[in-house]
Amino acid sequence: MKTAVNRSARDAAAYIKAKKDKSPSIGIITGSGLDFAGLIERGDEIPYKEIQGFPCSKVRGHKNRVMIGKCGGENVIILQGRVHYYEGYSMEDITFPVKVLSEIGVKNIILTNAAGSMKTFLKPGDFMVINDHINLTGINPLRGLPDHKDRSRFVDMSQAHDRDLINKTLELGFGMGIMLHCGVLAAVSGPSYETPAEIQMIRTLGADAVCMSTIPEVIMSRYLGMKVLGLSVITNYAAGLGTSSLRHEEVVKVARSRSKDAVRLLSAIIKYMPV
Ligand code: HPA
Repeated sequence: MKTAVNRSARDAAAYIKAKKDKSPSIGIITGSGLDFAGLIERGDEIPYKEIQGFPCSKVRGHKNRVMIGKCGGENVIILQGRVHYYEGYSMEDITFPVKVLSEIGVKNIILTNAAGSMKTFLKPGDFMVINDHINLTGINPLRGLPDHKDRSRFVDMSQAHDRDLINKTLELGFGMGIMLHCGVLAAVSGPSYETPAEIQMIRTLGADAVCMSTIPEVIMSRYLGMKVLGLSVITNYAAGLGTSSLRHEEVVKVARSRSKDAVRLLSAIIKYMPV
């Protein structure tokens, strides 16, 4: 476990806001490989390590920087790279960036990740809009948080993933000729990939794809009252379902190869998001 650090989401948000003098209401957290640099015009950059208490990932494919700029007239903040439970970070660390986005004023959060497919129709390179999830990490990021009357830790998760944003994304993808699936994402803690038997189990539980991130961020986002849109890039068939063995390098490579379409899609959905 990493050691506890002195941090405040409010201070980190104030630092970012003071440096860039912008108040984005749309935030994006990117996963392995996806490069969203092209999403914003004349973006400003802040390395995570400049911001007190901001956790940095050591995983390949994570750039550890904040980017702020305009996308289709809207101010957008992108966190390029996230930390993971499997790196030894706590749930508090993992969800700290979500709290910072909330303090900045983000109302709509887009969470992207790389995921392994457990369905034959979900092929490497495909996108899956997340319409529900199964948290198999064994831990909940809201554990230990106080229960307030205006912010209950007993968060309703029956529509954790925003229906309107999902439907609009599917419609926009269709119009742009970007094939989108819609499905249930499971998250495990990692870092080892799953065994074929575990994949059979997770599939039986009702998930379509599996990842090692994102879901704690979804839970924290809902606690903080943000609307969530989740997008997975399918990077591989999960263990036992494909022909080759699983490699992180391949996951990053496939995700990176889909960055252009992800940027096109997100640019379109951002224009639609209420600010
Ligand atoms: N399993 C878990 N996480 C993943 C996978 C996988 O197959 N691919 C990308 N992230």
